[in-house]
Amino acid sequence: MVIINRVNEIRKKVREWKSKGLRVGFVPTMGYLHEGHESLIKKASEENDKVVVSIFVNPIQFGPKEDLSAYPRDLERDSAICERAGADVIFHPKNDEMYENDFSTFVDMTGLTKELCGKSRPIHFRGVCTVVNKLFNIVCPDRAYFGQKDAQQLAIIKKMVRDLSFDVEIIGCPIVREEDGLAKSSRNAYLSNEEREVATILNKSLMKARKLIEGGERSSKLIINSIIQTINSEPMARVDYVNVVDSLSIEPVENIESSVLIAIAVYIGKTRLIDNFTYEL
Ligand code: PAJ
Repeated sequence: MVIINRVNEIRKKVREWKSKGLRVGFVPTMGYLHEGHESLIKKASEENDKVVVSIFVNPIQFGPKEDLSAYPRDLERDSAICERAGADVIFHPKNDEMYENDFSTFVDMTGLTKELCGKSRPIHFRGVCTVVNKLFNIVCPDRAYFGQKDAQQLAIIKKMVRDLSFDVEIIGCPIVREEDGLAKSSRNAYLSNEEREVATILNKSLMKARKLIEGGERSSKLIINSIIQTINSEPMARVDYVNVVDSLSIEPVENIESSVLIAIAVYIGKTRLIDNFTYEL
């Protein structure tokens, strides 16, 4: 496995592979990898001849008061995980390799970016769409792998690929969790021991909601209230949002009558965590 920092070099590598008819899988990440990322890389290496993992903490998807400078980084550990999961290349560009001083072109989506994380983090998805756009243009993958952990991001990327006619297949992958149900996340590293225990409240509140829906409850309002109540039972937890939306349009629904995404964002102390599940009717 090799680490490549330059756009020209990764382009050359991928061109070589493609001239031999090899299929290229791509896993975009911000690093500090865990078993969630690893599951994406493994799937990519099962389904493609070559796999590129990008590791780039994308500054333009962080708001001014967010955790850009604190975001955890460990390239050595990440390299070992990528290698064992079957990656061929890590693309690890510096900021100025991706964004020159006069950078001024953004990819901005309407509609799907309005609710959930788009509401709490106004410039976030513009940053995500722009960087994924650039990465697709740089890597030219046949397939790209994204986690259901960021369900809104996955829906947005699928739509962007359709809207902008990218020749890439987007593969969604299931959420990987800790044994106690907490969704794996690079941001779990911010949690103190006490906060780490409190953080299980996210998944607990969702499991309770799932049971209610499976028991026949169809009112989004009631489901949302149940989740909020469960989360508020933990004094160290603070709800950012809880919503029930159509899983394709990300529009809020009043009654659960189609496939819905139940998504939450919760502050545990200063750390903002997200989780979700999809309920197919
Ligand atoms: P990052 O948070 O590093 O996540 C990279 C990919 O790993 C995303 O597709 C995310 O959904 C997936 N992932 C994270 N935790 C997961 C888990 N517990 N189970 C399954 N998959 C999981 O998402 C980003 O980076 C960035 O926004 C990026 C797309 C790289 C653009 O900068």
